[in-house]
Amino acid sequence: MRSTVNSKSNQFNQGEAQEAARVFSLYNLPNGFIENPYPYYHALQTFDPVKRFADGSILITRYADLQSVYKQNEIFSSDKKLEFGRKFSNSSTYEHHTSSLVFNDPPIHTQTRNILKGALTPRAMTALEKGICELVDHLIDKLEASRQFDLVEDFASAIPINVVGNLLGIPVEERGPLREWSLAILGALEPDISAETLHKSNLAVDEFLEFLKRIVTQRSREALDPEIDLLSRLIRGEPNGQQLDEKTLLHNCIFLLNAGHETTTNLIANALVSLCEWQDQRERLISAPECIGTAINEFLRFESPNQLGNRMAVQDCEIGGAEICVGTPVTLCIGAANRDPAKFESPDILDISRTPNRHLAFGSGPHICLGNNLAHIEARIAIGRFVERLPNYGLCGVPQRTGRVRFRGFSYVPTYSHR
Ligand code: HEM
Repeated sequence: MRSTVNSKSNQFNQGEAQEAARVFSLYNLPNGFIENPYPYYHALQTFDPVKRFADGSILITRYADLQSVYKQNEIFSSDKKLEFGRKFSNSSTYEHHTSSLVFNDPPIHTQTRNILKGALTPRAMTALEKGICELVDHLIDKLEASRQFDLVEDFASAIPINVVGNLLGIPVEERGPLREWSLAILGALEPDISAETLHKSNLAVDEFLEFLKRIVTQRSREALDPEIDLLSRLIRGEPNGQQLDEKTLLHNCIFLLNAGHETTTNLIANALVSLCEWQDQRERLISAPECIGTAINEFLRFESPNQLGNRMAVQDCEIGGAEICVGTPVTLCIGAANRDPAKFESPDILDISRTPNRHLAFGSGPHICLGNNLAHIEARIAIGRFVERLPNYGLCGVPQRTGRVRFRGFSYVPTYSHR
């Protein structure tokens, strides 16, 4: 018997699915959606794959439609100045998000991406690996000793915050507020936000900027090896003279921490919770640890940490046969595309050796995730070491979801381990 964490038992019948697709709204989520969005995604794929909302925006759920939008970046823009202007007014949150490369088009996107890519060197990534192994082992030592723990707080979230902290060279003793800042800033990206959420995000951006300015000033005075230290490399710029101005540098460092933090935390926790439900797959992974590479891709597909992406149509066009007018905001449902039966056989089955597995968890096209190698390294070490050292772990209470629709994960997962 499988438990209900990701329950696949409550699929809709045809009439229910039709109705679920008809009334679905991202701004007023149905009960039970956060726990298990997949029946709704399948209903939308079947009955309303290009779903139009009252505000004129659309939600797409089919793999082929997402692929086509990702490819046509001259028609589907990532520039969010208009949309975020309406949502955030003239605030610190507006300045932050509109300065991040992910919410820009060429030429700003291309210039910033080239510089960040130059700084995320294979040497810098490899240099992190040893530290990640030590960190993971140290965390598991503590879990072993305590026997009962919160998988999110005591394990999953501690890894990416320290990895990106190391990548940017942020002193260990100063990392305390990073997670809260990051969560507050990402919270403002939810489809529907309150004035309080925006206020918290603005405060977090302001405090984070002040904090980083100090670190950047110090690093400008005492640069480290730019082949390994990302921040020194970003401050120095590329050998061809390309450099980020101060504002772009600061906001994109904040973005790196945000992009690499909650997503990777969720990947690790989602995977380990899924392996409680799919005991057969846990046993396979324990007996064949060499499957860890395909397993990570399957965890990314099965419970995609980033469920939604956004674009804006800047020309009249069509998606999946539906006519789309210029100015239409398009939400790309990555979580649904990765469960599309037209692309993946038995998509609701977790299969750690699934190949091929061309999931869209990292997006696709010119904005494809720049940190995907790093996320793979972290997840491989964290999940691989966890199941090897604590093979008999289990849940000792009901895990709590974060309640967010864009970033799929848990806020609390009570867990036990015994040898
Ligand atoms: C499981 C972990 C991760 C997931 C699921 C994830 C997912 C994504 C997705 C879907 C995008 C594309 C956004 C779009 O097309 O609009 C993206 C972009 C990006 N990600 Fe990740 N990410 C992860 C980890 C990381 C890490 C560890 C870093 C770096 C430390 C990172 C840095 C970036 C950057 C810089 C971009 C922007 C790329 C661009 O706009 O050109 N990500 N990520």
